[in-house]
Amino acid sequence: MKTINVKEISANPGKRLQFLEDFIGFTQDDWKALSDSVDILGPKLPQMLDALYEHLLSFDDTRRIFLGKRGEVDPEYIAIRKEHLTAWLLKTVGGGDRSAFAAWLVSVGKAHTGVAGENDRVVPPRYMVGLVAFIQTSFLSTLFEQLPNEPEKVQRMGLAWNKMMMMQLEIFLKQMAPAWPKWDET
Ligand code: HEM
Repeated sequence: MKTINVKEISANPGKRLQFLEDFIGFTQDDWKALSDSVDILGPKLPQMLDALYEHLLSFDDTRRIFLGKRGEVDPEYIAIRKEHLTAWLLKTVGGGDRSAFAAWLVSVGKAHTGVAGENDRVVPPRYMVGLVAFIQTSFLSTLFEQLPNEPEKVQRMGLAWNKMMMMQLEIFLKQMAPAWPKWDET
């Protein structure tokens, strides 16, 4: 029987990430698979980010979160958001210090709340869940397209990304969900 130190994983982001790795079965080879996937996903990243923002801006209530003061979508602001997502991807695959990475994920989660983010850009958790699904689909489809004759590589990288996205989602929601006690308030 394995022990889960609930107090510790609740208080310490590094321990929480370690617990999620153990529980989900995210191994050292998964870290390596993420790093290996950069060569495949990297060249397609600009297209994927364009599709992701086109998607977010095509729904009124997610578009609202990206509007400028005059109610317009500022292309420069969207370009910054895309840069931040590129930095997120590189940091995720970077495999640096795990405690620092976990603490950084906590700060990214907080950036989507009124606690650390801008007050008029608070992100309801339902959109975080939806976008994680969108990213998983986008990565997996791209891996299949780019590696049509290498199903084992697609499986290895695809599974590593799916596990990583779920771990990050859990860490983000720990920051975001408490502000939404009824989950679906408007
Ligand atoms: C997998 C999902 C997501 C990831 C990995 C992600 C990543 C990030 C990162 C890295 C930042 C910058 C944090 C910082 O500068 O400290 C950020 C900020 C932001 N994200 Fe996300 N994000 C996700 C989902 C979403 C969703 C679903 C929305 C809206 C529908 C959104 C809207 C924003 C906004 C508006 C900011 C800026 C917040 C502010 O400046 O106050 N994000 N995100």
